[in-house]
Amino acid sequence: MTRIAVLVSGNGTNLQALIDARGEAFPVEIVSVISDRPGVRALGRARAAGIPAQVVAWSEYRDRGLFTKAICEAAEEAGATALVLAGFMRILGAEAIERFPNRILNVHPALLPAFPGAQAVERAIDHGVKVTGVTIHFVDEEVDHGPIIAQEPVPVLPGDTVESLHARLQEVEHRLYPQVIADFASGSLSIEGRTVWRTDR
Ligand code: GAR
Repeated sequence: MTRIAVLVSGNGTNLQALIDARGEAFPVEIVSVISDRPGVRALGRARAAGIPAQVVAWSEYRDRGLFTKAICEAAEEAGATALVLAGFMRILGAEAIERFPNRILNVHPALLPAFPGAQAVERAIDHGVKVTGVTIHFVDEEVDHGPIIAQEPVPVLPGDTVESLHARLQEVEHRLYPQVIADFASGSLSIEGRTVWRTDR
């Protein structure tokens, strides 16, 4: 069993997909859910599933280094050996990458390297792209930049709004992220430079 801490900032539908994936084919234990904001829906989802949930409030730190240290300590105290970012809208500092090398995953609602950072769905629509998608990647020191593990395209349809497109992207996220985390947890992913291979065991 790989023990993960899931980092959240908001609604937590990706967290819910991980909670719902728990079972025999999912060699992952969610030992902690950590939010940078109090009162978000994701915390309620964790509690409803009996998972310890805690807040490491960005507003109390306002310093990336100290905030990162507090997140790492909370995750390690809970017994986590990997961090899973699920709609976590803060940038972790270098200490997190050092303490969890190649053990931090993120899901992003665009086909990286297109549209990194915030408002990725809105910017894809504004740019007029015909295809966007979902990227799952390891986290490195740069924002939305680390080695890509999986990507899946999603077409932008005529008349799409941010909401309608994001809803279709999230359907993909909810299917793909648990699969990728299961592969990661079972040791099926190997990294060579920027390239991630899935090796069946
Ligand atoms: C997800 O769509 C995720 O890809 C995105 O935030 C949403 C969170 O939804 N993450 C980013 O934009 C990170 N740059 P959720 O809270 O319902 O899982």
